[in-house]
Amino acid sequence: MFAFDPYSPVVDADPFPDYRTLRDEHPCFWSHEAQMWVLSRYADIVSAGQDWQTYSSAKGNLMTELPGRAGATLGTTDPPRHDRLRGLVQHAFMKRNLETLSGPIRDIGAACAAPLAGRPSFDFIGDFSSKFTVRVLFAALGLPLGNEAEVREKALLMVQSDPTTRAKAPQHIAAYQWMQDYAAGVIAERRANPVNDLISHFAMAEIDGDRLDEREVLLTTTTLIMAGIESLGGFMSMFALNLADHAEARRAVVANPALLPDAVEESLRYNTSAQRFRRCLQRDVELHGQTMRAGDFVCLAYGSGNRDERQYPNPDVYDIARKPRGHLGFGGGVHACLGTAIARLSVKIAFEEFHRVVPDYRRVREHLAWMPSSTFRSPVRLELAAH
Ligand code: HEM
Repeated sequence: MFAFDPYSPVVDADPFPDYRTLRDEHPCFWSHEAQMWVLSRYADIVSAGQDWQTYSSAKGNLMTELPGRAGATLGTTDPPRHDRLRGLVQHAFMKRNLETLSGPIRDIGAACAAPLAGRPSFDFIGDFSSKFTVRVLFAALGLPLGNEAEVREKALLMVQSDPTTRAKAPQHIAAYQWMQDYAAGVIAERRANPVNDLISHFAMAEIDGDRLDEREVLLTTTTLIMAGIESLGGFMSMFALNLADHAEARRAVVANPALLPDAVEESLRYNTSAQRFRRCLQRDVELHGQTMRAGDFVCLAYGSGNRDERQYPNPDVYDIARKPRGHLGFGGGVHACLGTAIARLSVKIAFEEFHRVVPDYRRVREHLAWMPSSTFRSPVRLELAAH
């Protein structure tokens, strides 16, 4: 009998055969192990993302949620509270014009890539993308330099879970507490001495007299650090993996960097890091002959929707000319990623600089160790050999 546990490390090693079985034979599947429904077809995931009245995020959106986050942050509230928070955060984002970040992001990319010159092999994550991501996030949010490695370590722990209990372990919760204390310190500093950075803008964000309160500023900042560091870093490693595995695509983007944005979109579809998010049903739903009950949790398997042949012809082919409209790499509906512009810009610049120093590469190991997070799928290390 077919079984699918979205928390299983075996699934993370290669989720795609199971995704296909789910889509073809069990499009609305009750995972006994995980005690939740799994939606795997593109059209069903898109509908669920739009129907927030039925598929609520207010009980949390991570596959294993952190204490106190449900109902309190952008990703874990429903409209109208969510729209209000999103409006205020977007307002702060707009004030920090993205264009002004291009130069600093390029400098960070060049500085992180330079030490790779002449090295026969290296860990793409430890030696490049982790350093790049954390420095870009620090620059974008306006975090004071000094403890970047510690902030990254805690951000990664926050999105992890214990696959045996399918829950957060004490070290994950402790990391969340640490991040809140850290964010509280930065916010207090910015309130006292505001500058032109995102955190200062959050702290002051106001639309028609409405402001974020203390707890909202704290949890929004904490969420952005986590979302920014994990999502951006995780995706960069998946993009590098896709290019390492597809020599023709790699050579094309190295020869013509103008192709990078299309390659990024195809990687967001083909093999993205943000694989599965969770919703909670607000009413009974009949779908594909199954009855899902109010109060049940539902996993939206974005990584599967992106490989749905009902939406994308030859979905298992990595084709950088595909231009996959409407892919689910950034989610969809009311909770679609808020960081898309900075993510796209950062990945493009990072790989332009990386390819300048390492124009050709291949992966060293066939089997990779994956981070224990049922929401995100990215390798712990990615050793690359420069040709
Ligand atoms: C390539 C990198 C990234 C990927 C693949 C990614 C992916 C996603 C996905 C799939 C969601 C939807 C979650 C859900 O359905 O519940 C999301 C939401 C979100 N992302 Fe990203 N993200 C990336 C980068 C970033 C960055 C750099 C930031 C911030 C600086 C960010 C901030 C957010 C926020 C705040 C939300 C919640 C939006 C809402 O609920 O209204 N993301 N992201």
